[in-house]
Amino acid sequence: MSTAQSCPLPTVSLSKYLEEEGQNKNAESQLLKSSLPAENDCHTQAEDRVSDVPKYLLELGLTPECKQLISSLPAEKGWVANLLHQYQGFWHTTRQLQAVLTCQNHFQAQETDILLVTTPKSGTTWLKAIVFALMNRVKYPNTDNNHPLLSENPHILVPFLEYGLYIDSQVPNLTTFTSPRLFATHLPLVSLPESAKNSSCKLVYLCRNPKDTFVSLWHFTNKLRTKDMGSNSLEETFDKFVRGVSLYGPFWDHVLGYWKESLENPERVLFLKYEEMKEQPKLQLMKLAQFLGCPFSNEEETKGAVDGIQKLCSFENLSNLEVNKTGKLASGEEYKAFFRRGEVGDAKNHLTPQMIEKLDQITEQKLHGYGLKF
Ligand code: A3P
Repeated sequence: MSTAQSCPLPTVSLSKYLEEEGQNKNAESQLLKSSLPAENDCHTQAEDRVSDVPKYLLELGLTPECKQLISSLPAEKGWVANLLHQYQGFWHTTRQLQAVLTCQNHFQAQETDILLVTTPKSGTTWLKAIVFALMNRVKYPNTDNNHPLLSENPHILVPFLEYGLYIDSQVPNLTTFTSPRLFATHLPLVSLPESAKNSSCKLVYLCRNPKDTFVSLWHFTNKLRTKDMGSNSLEETFDKFVRGVSLYGPFWDHVLGYWKESLENPERVLFLKYEEMKEQPKLQLMKLAQFLGCPFSNEEETKGAVDGIQKLCSFENLSNLEVNKTGKLASGEEYKAFFRRGEVGDAKNHLTPQMIEKLDQITEQKLHGYGLKF
């Protein structure tokens, strides 16, 4: 077995990245504006004044390319933002669609990149924490009182491509990331930037059973809605979810795309399940380390490094950290919204037996033939 020292561990020039992130928070509007490519600068002074509205609700600053595309796409009423648009078979908010296009046009994958892929509410925050801790374990042992995960939210340490780095038409400077670079995305396989599809970068896909994913998404999106909007009813959102009209939905198509790819290219795509991570966290963590080319050495295992990372990234630990109780993303979402119950099977506390039956039926219909079960 290889030793931890032989792994290509450090992923981010962290201090530099955090410094930039801090600047982002402080001078966000200026940065947003200045980072837009000149030809894409569609913000007006009036638009810049809309500062008290959460960013995810804004549908401003669209490029002409995006506006034109949107006019040709099917649209539906959104869960939080006004509209969802169906692009390449999957549903996106207006603001997010602009980011998807920018990301597809500009992101250049490197062979050594690691992309963490999920549908929303499948355990993205958890996966980000685990892979960050795993890949940086020499630089930041889990016993370190100054471990970055103790003072920063996982979404800051492992940024989203389309949600974070490429949002608002900005083309980020990625030179501060050292190889192997670690990014996250909710993009379906079909919509990954061409460079990511064609390179041999590694993809870690984490999925979760559709019932818990739906319930988690329903809670989360209701937290994002402003007081004026009120809450979405369970029934209304359920109807949308089963029709596939949800963020990055249809859920089943998203999962299936990566499942098939993981069967065809197992050395490139690792397919994980939230439920299995909960049930056998140590085993899954070791599988992940092996896949990423940095297996735990016998010495590390004996010294408790696997258990240590598991504990560091546990729901109990992360959700009780001050940073995750009080902080929020530059786009307005509170970190605490990403930590609710963190359990398997909570759906049964919310869904009617008919809803459960319906979701089970769709899942069986769509996935069973491919050998995927929940
Ligand atoms: P629940 O709403 O069911 O509690 P995402 O990170 O993709 O947005 O997913 C959020 C879901 O993952 C929420 O599920 C959240 O509580 C859960 N979660 C967050 N951190 C977790 C952790 N460390 N371990 C297990 N689940 C976690």
